[in-house]
Amino acid sequence: MTLTETRRQAPPAVVATDLTKVYGQGDAQVHALRGVNVSFATGAFTAIMGPSGSGKSTLMHCLAGLDAATSGTVHIGDVELTGLSDKRLTMLRRERIGFVFQAFNLLPTLTAEQNIRLPLEISARQADQPLFDRVIDTVGLRDRLSHRPTELSGGQQQRVAVARALISKPQVIFADEPTGNLDSRSGAEVLSFLRTSVRELGQTIVMVTHDPVAASYADRVVFLRDGELVTEITAPTPQSVLDTLVRLEA
Ligand SMILES: Nc1ncnc2c1ncn2[C@@H]1O[C@H](COP(=O)(O)OP(=O)(O)O)[C@@H](O)[C@H]1O
Ligand SMILES: [Mg+2]
Repeated sequence: MTLTETRRQAPPAVVATDLTKVYGQGDAQVHALRGVNVSFATGAFTAIMGPSGSGKSTLMHCLAGLDAATSGTVHIGDVELTGLSDKRLTMLRRERIGFVFQAFNLLPTLTAEQNIRLPLEISARQADQPLFDRVIDTVGLRDRLSHRPTELSGGQQQRVAVARALISKPQVIFADEPTGNLDSRSGAEVLSFLRTSVRELGQTIVMVTHDPVAASYADRVVFLRDGELVTEITAPTPQSVLDTLVRLEA
């Protein structure tokens, strides 16, 4: 079966149903998510966009089990997150979910290679050596493996962080503003790499961003406004993303 056929037949990697999130109490209540229904296809690269305060980070945190929704359900593959004990949730995050944040979160005393292998060591799993080699070559980090983070550029550090997320073959990688700390050239490098890992490794990626150029690397962009999912576009271009954002803010 080709990768495209596999994708077409696979159930969605992540499904959120009637998701709500309320912060605070009484007068101080903030309805950050107001009944979000969305699913993320396996092997696709999806961007989440919306104005500041629209609920992007909250949605990502609830989808990834980093924060508990007020009501509604989240499924990662066939597992329902909502209602898992803290211990099961921690295991599920470790085994099925990869994270990439704006800050690279690499350990400064470890080399690039040690940082990349760390999640496998933590969960006492065998490194899949062919996958390791493929990831390293895709990221273009072969000659940087023995460098420590301070000896790498921002773009290289973020590629190490993405490689670290890929190496445990998570069901989904969540990325929150992964290019937020990078200049546009390094940002483009990281985004191309994210897209390549979707195309060539079949990785599923969900990325929060406020940058139309970053979103244009995705297969699909979903737009939030005031805690609701209001529209989406496929095969985005920077211009079509920008036009949609302008309409939303109007
Ligand atoms: N921990 C929190 N406590 C109270 N309100 C919060 C908290 N986190 C987010 N919010 C509020 O929820 C809404 C959505 O925030 P957020 O998800 O961070 O939006 P975005 O990522 O799109 O900028 C905003 O009104 C924000 O002020
Ligand atoms: Mg945010």
